[in-house]
Amino acid sequence: MTDTTSQAGTGHAPRTVDPDPDFAAQAVAQAALYEEADTDRLGFWARQARELLTWDTDFTQTLDWSGAPFAKWFVGGRLNVAVNCVDRHVEAGDGDRVALHFEGEPGDTRTITYAELAADVRRAANALAALGVQAGDRVAIYLPMIPEAVVAMLACARLGAPHSVVFGGFSADALRSRIEDAEAKVVITCDGSYRRGKPTTLKPAVDAALAKGAPSVTNVLVVRRNGEAVDWTEGRDVWWHDAVGAAGEEHEAQAFDAEHPLYILYTSGTTGKPKGILHTSGGYLAQAAYTTKNVFDLRPERDVYWCTADVGWVTGHSYVVYGPLALGVTQVVYEGTPDTPDKDRWWSLVEKYGVTVLYTAPTAIRTCMKWGEEYPGRHDLSSLRVLGSVGEPINPEAWAWYRRVIGADRTPVVDTWWQTETGAMMISPLPGVTTLKPGSAQVPLPGVAAEVVDDAGEPLGHGQAGYLVLTEPWPSMLRGLWGDPQRYVDTYWSRFPGRYFAGDGAKRDEDGDIWLLGRVDDVMNVSGHRLSTAEIESALVSHPTVAEAAVVGATDETTGQAVVAFVILRGGAQEGPDTVRELREHVGQEIGPIAKPRSIMVVAELPKTRSGKIMRRLLRDVAENRATGDVTTLTDASVMDTIRAGMTRSE
Ligand code: WTA
Repeated sequence: MTDTTSQAGTGHAPRTVDPDPDFAAQAVAQAALYEEADTDRLGFWARQARELLTWDTDFTQTLDWSGAPFAKWFVGGRLNVAVNCVDRHVEAGDGDRVALHFEGEPGDTRTITYAELAADVRRAANALAALGVQAGDRVAIYLPMIPEAVVAMLACARLGAPHSVVFGGFSADALRSRIEDAEAKVVITCDGSYRRGKPTTLKPAVDAALAKGAPSVTNVLVVRRNGEAVDWTEGRDVWWHDAVGAAGEEHEAQAFDAEHPLYILYTSGTTGKPKGILHTSGGYLAQAAYTTKNVFDLRPERDVYWCTADVGWVTGHSYVVYGPLALGVTQVVYEGTPDTPDKDRWWSLVEKYGVTVLYTAPTAIRTCMKWGEEYPGRHDLSSLRVLGSVGEPINPEAWAWYRRVIGADRTPVVDTWWQTETGAMMISPLPGVTTLKPGSAQVPLPGVAAEVVDDAGEPLGHGQAGYLVLTEPWPSMLRGLWGDPQRYVDTYWSRFPGRYFAGDGAKRDEDGDIWLLGRVDDVMNVSGHRLSTAEIESALVSHPTVAEAAVVGATDETTGQAVVAFVILRGGAQEGPDTVRELREHVGQEIGPIAKPRSIMVVAELPKTRSGKIMRRLLRDVAENRATGDVTTLTDASVMDTIRAGMTRSE
């Protein structure tokens, strides 16, 4: 293996890492994929869809783009997504293969085979049907990382009832607005979970959400996880173990159109209102399966895969549930935090289950770097073969640490760029094929077309920074925003007509490899989670003492970005010792703990342009402790001096 010399600014990271010849000889992905896709992109996708999925009715057309930007993939095809993810593996004789190695935070474990998972999904589908859930009805899922989350999603898919999973860390208000937007009929939740050794609760947030609104909900299905006491609404609330336990294992699955909605997943956009990203069945599952297989070099009979993402995020949808299960892979599902009971918990799980492929986020890797090498050093990690990264750019130092300390300087590290909207990975090296380059997501996957363009939409030369666009439709692309087709067109397809605008800055280097440079809109990326500045600002101004608020994402060593808020208090409101704490709590209640600002600065004025737009760029300078940039477009340039002076005082 040749590790070429360090590049300036990348610390200990090698500039490139060639594929290991032994790995390459056995690799699932082959360089020929690029050639095949380049020659006949649609033919390539059609082959993937037919080889990776089982269709009840074959499709007659690969792509119908006549209604662009609204795509139809695999037209005329019919399939059942849940059958593809479980039942067909049982029919193929793999029913005894473990689907899920579940490990609860307290150490309790469950081993669920594909046959058992199939039975659970069928029972849960019967239970949901008994509650009146039919194809097309929406079901909200508000659960921690327990097997029932996977079962619930698949039961919905089996019935053709789109699910809307809401991350368990979101507040009652955030949950309510998502349930209301999707007009969900049933909510699936649990009493609570465990976090850092303590029981948590989830049901109270559902109760609070439903007390305030969400009239579409007729039933709440409640999993018993930690035995915490819960309030009970007779006639509405149903225990999962009663309903699912009593339900029969026989359930006839119906085949749905390839474009039948599979799920809605809300994500932050540039306005205060989260967007309901809509994904459908055939194209989504095909690309999820194709990327899981090739990017992770997965062979179901060999590998034990673990993606640390929560099902509340898209990574959990595509790379815990749909991709790996469509392939019939064995995987680990872990409920808790990486430092419970100690900072080696993840590594103990890798050793215990013999994990071969690990997929996690740069923020987690940087946290482990901070904790130190002794924790992974306590365990035998030699089973690992491939390491993946997602959620934000991985800095070359973290990449190099991940490969050296976790991957014994042997495993490929794949940096995968994609979004909730893209449904599946889009830009990533292929292990065993691509010469890796720490810090860069590198190349569009075979079948995917991306470009870096300038303001006018012209492709840029190497070395120049611009905007990332996707120039051809792809199977797992979002099919729109729930209930708001115009916003879909405006947000993604209007900035550069005919091309998909990702909202990310990017550049190509001298080799043509793509480097992602972070968001170019008002979306922040905190620990790999998308948060909107506008959403947090509106949470802050909903507090009675706040007149105005501006939020920026400031660079943070561990979390990538951190939320920094500037607030102006209402006339008469005094800044007390508890103001900042109270406002942080308020944001936590309005959105969820992940949205709490790292710091809040009370200021007298905010920097604004003459047209009244807040100049976040200047606030970012302050938040990151830099000299203030160009202030000539400010109405009053002295505002920045006042803000800085105020900050020094409060430090
Ligand atoms: C960022 C998560 C650089 C990017 C799957 C994107 C990345 C947003 C990478 C989507 C990566 C994700 N390198 N940036 N490998 N992966 N991003 O919707 O800004 O939660 O637009 O999907 O995360 O976040 P989302």
